[in-house]
Amino acid sequence: MLTRPIPSTGEAIPVIGLGTWRAFDVGADAAVRRPLREVLRLLLDAGGRMIDTSPMYGRAEAVTGDLLAEQAARPRAFLATKVWTTGRERGLEQMRDSVQLLRSEVIDLMQIHNLVDWRTHLASLRRMKEAGQIRYIGITHYTTGALKELARILAGEPGIDFVQLGYSLATRAPEAELLPVAAAHGIAVIANQPLERGDLFRRVRGRPLPEWAGEFGCESWAQLFLKYVLAEPAVTCVIPATGNPNHMKDNLAAGLGRLPDARQLQQIRELWDAG
Ligand SMILES: NC(=O)c1ccc[n+]([C@@H]2O[C@H](COP(=O)([O-])OP(=O)(O)OC[C@H]3O[C@@H](n4cnc5c(N)ncnc54)[C@H](OP(=O)(O)O)[C@@H]3O)[C@@H](O)[C@H]2O)c1
Repeated sequence: MLTRPIPSTGEAIPVIGLGTWRAFDVGADAAVRRPLREVLRLLLDAGGRMIDTSPMYGRAEAVTGDLLAEQAARPRAFLATKVWTTGRERGLEQMRDSVQLLRSEVIDLMQIHNLVDWRTHLASLRRMKEAGQIRYIGITHYTTGALKELARILAGEPGIDFVQLGYSLATRAPEAELLPVAAAHGIAVIANQPLERGDLFRRVRGRPLPEWAGEFGCESWAQLFLKYVLAEPAVTCVIPATGNPNHMKDNLAAGLGRLPDARQLQQIRELWDAG
């Protein structure tokens, strides 16, 4: 699979990751967990590593921790979770809970979810990185309205390794408002909601994939949507969520082969904008 370096260290990150919102918020029932185990196996066997979760996602951290432990797969994953509360003590307690739930002494990437109480948590994250409890620091949001604040923080606060933001064919504001800032400051970018929570598929339902999508190796709409985002060199990885092994296979294929060039990107935009 194609990889991109994390600018602050050069560590290679495979471009296709996995989101866990909703899909991994399930109970202990073996039949419900079986496809999720398969999704993780497919991701890791294809060379994928990035798994994104949060205490905001209900049982998703616990399910991710359980399923990785069952497959003894923790060392192959790059675990990203978040702090999502106010106050220093509550933040530290929540991050200790994540360590337990994910069954991982060291968290690869700890992110400040939706910038909640970010000044307080950034101070904690800097100390935790120093102490080796986390490997990277990140900030996240998902709305276009938050891009300006994300950009201000990236430009003004040293030591942030990752920014996670909403970026898709339907939400292109980051191309002008944030990706150049991230690139200029050497900060890795995780694109969340790259399929607009599944909404992108509704728009193209029943429509055949254009023939020219084959020129850059796309065999499905999902691959076209993900390759559109990955064609932006400032993007380090995408984290589409899925609980469906067939969808995971489909998404993984977007990490192979060519990416659209400038002319093809324009073709994709025109196709989308034509409705
Ligand atoms: N502020 C934040 O930090 C923040 C905010 C939003 C999201 N996130 C992160 O970003 C991740 C991704 O965002 P998201 O989950 O909101 O939305 P998304 O990844 O854009 O879309 C997920 C939806 O697309 C469907 N899907 C996935 N692959 C598919 C395929 N190949 N073909 C057809 N349908 C497919 C999934 O259904 P199936 O399960 O049926 O495949 C699911 O309904 C989240 O899970 C979370 O980890 C972070």
